[in-house]
Amino acid sequence: MLIKDIINPIPIFGNIINANDYILMNKLPKSKLFGQIFTPPLLAIEMAKLIATSNTFNKLKILDPCIGPSTFLKAFNNLTLPSETKYLGFDIDPEMISHSINTAKTTNIKTIMKEGDYLLEKSLVFQPNAIIMNPPYVRHEWINQVEKNKYKDIIRTLYKDTIDGRSNLFIYFLLKSFHELANNGVMCIIVYDAITSSIYGKKALQLVLKNANIEYQKHIKTPFNDALVDATIMLIRKQMGKPLLKKEKNHQPINLVPLKEIVDTRRGIGLINSKLFISNKHDPYFNESKLFLKKQPLDTLVVNHENVKQKAYLYEKPEVISIKLKRWLHNEASKICKQGKNSKTLEDKMQINDNWLLHKVHTAPILFNYYIRSNPRFLFNQDMLPFSDNFYGVYPKEIDNNVAWLLLNTSTFVEHILSNARNQGNGLKKLQLYEFNDALVPDWRLIRSKDQHKLQKLAQELLKTNSSKAILAEADALVQNIIKG
Ligand SMILES: C[S@@+](CC[C@H](N)C(=O)[O-])C[C@H]1O[C@@H](n2cnc3c(N)ncnc32)[C@H](O)[C@@H]1O
Repeated sequence: MLIKDIINPIPIFGNIINANDYILMNKLPKSKLFGQIFTPPLLAIEMAKLIATSNTFNKLKILDPCIGPSTFLKAFNNLTLPSETKYLGFDIDPEMISHSINTAKTTNIKTIMKEGDYLLEKSLVFQPNAIIMNPPYVRHEWINQVEKNKYKDIIRTLYKDTIDGRSNLFIYFLLKSFHELANNGVMCIIVYDAITSSIYGKKALQLVLKNANIEYQKHIKTPFNDALVDATIMLIRKQMGKPLLKKEKNHQPINLVPLKEIVDTRRGIGLINSKLFISNKHDPYFNESKLFLKKQPLDTLVVNHENVKQKAYLYEKPEVISIKLKRWLHNEASKICKQGKNSKTLEDKMQINDNWLLHKVHTAPILFNYYIRSNPRFLFNQDMLPFSDNFYGVYPKEIDNNVAWLLLNTSTFVEHILSNARNQGNGLKKLQLYEFNDALVPDWRLIRSKDQHKLQKLAQELLKTNSSKAILAEADALVQNIIKG
C-alpha cells in the first residue's frame, strides 16, 4: 500500500475517514462499530415509566437519539401518555431506521424518524422535554478521527470544555442531548458503569450536574445479553441555575474518592534496633552511615540533605559494608543483647544468619508522619532519602509528584484525611494505614487542564519559598472547584 493511500480519506457509511481508520473499522463488526447492544424490554418499560411519572409538561416531547430497533418506543406504547406526545428517533444505521419506521406504524405515538448521525445534527425539529436513551458504548480509539474531531468541537462549543482523552462515544450523546433538553425536563439513561467509575465518565457527569439533579439511580448487574458488564439507570432532571452543592443529596459525591485510588502508600523502614542502627557522630564509623529521616523537622514542607540530621547504618547488601563496620556493629549488637532491653528482635535475627544487619531500603517522593500532634503536613522528599516507619511514603498516581504534594497540603485535603484519624489522648492523633487509604478526598484526576498548569506553577513556587500560606490558599481554591464540580 502506498503512503498516500493511508493518508487519503476513504468514504465509509457516508462519512469521510482515513485509510487507517477504515482498516481498523473493518475489523470491527457493525454492531461493535455502532455500539449496538439493546435494552431488555422489561428495563425499557421501567425507564419509560420513570419518564412518564416524572414528566411535568402537558405536551411530552421525547427524544430518542439512538433508537435502535425502537426498544423504548415500544415500551412507551404500553403506557398512558399525554395526548399530544411527540417522539423523535435517530439512528445512524439505515436498517434500524427502516425497522423503527415499521414499528412506529403499529403505535399510537406521533413519531419522526431520522436516519443519520445524531451527534452532527445541528437543530432538532422540536426541543425535547424528555430524553430516553441507551447510548452506544464505543471506545474513543474506535471512533474515526474526522468524526471525533467534529464531536469534540461540538462539545467544546456547547460546554466551553474539552472531553477527556480516554472518553467514549456515549459521553458525547450524554452531553449533546442534555444540552438540548428543556429546563425541568428529564433524561432517563441506561449506561455502562463507566459513567460513575471512570474519570472521563465522572468528568462528563460533573458537567451535567452543574445544571441538573439525579432524581433516581439504580445499579443493575449484567443487564445486557451480549455484554458481561454492569450498568446504571439514571433519571436526571435539568435544573438550570440550581444552587451549588444542593445536588446529589442521596448520592455519594462523584468528586470524592478514597485516597488509595489516587496514591499508593507504603510504610517506611522499621529498623531492627534503633539504638544500634541510628548512628551517632561519636561512632568510629559514623561516616559510613547514611541520611535517614526519623523525626519530622520543624516548620518545613521539604526534607533534603540539608535539614535531615539523623543518619543510620542502612544497607541492603552485605558486600557494601566494610569489614570493620560489620565487626563493630556486631560488638555493639552483642552489648545491647547482654543488656536485654528491647533486644529480642535483634537477638532472634542474629541467630538466623549473617544478614541480620541488612534492611530493605526504600524511599518515596512524599512523606506523611501519621502520628499527628499539630501542623499535619506532607513532606516533599527532595533528595529521595530513606525514611523511618513513623512515616507513610506516598506515591501519587496520574499526577506530578510536586503537584500532588501541593494538593495534599491544602487545608481541604488535610481536613478530609484527618477526619479519618483517631484521638490517642493528650492532643495526639494517629492514622492507621487503612484509615489513611480510605479517607475520602477530592479526586485530583478531575482537575481541568488549565488549572493543572496553575498548580504546576504554584508547586514550583512552593518549592522555592518558605512562605507557604498564600500559595496553599490559592491551591485550595482550585481544590474547592473540584468539590463544587
Ligand atoms: C446501544 S444501542 C441502543 C438501541 C436502543 N435504543 C436500545 O436501547 O435497545 C445504540 C444505537 O445507537 C446507534 N448509533 C450509533 N452511533 C450513532 C450516531 N452517531 N447517531 C445515531 N445513532 C447512532 C446504533 O446504531 C444503535 O442502534
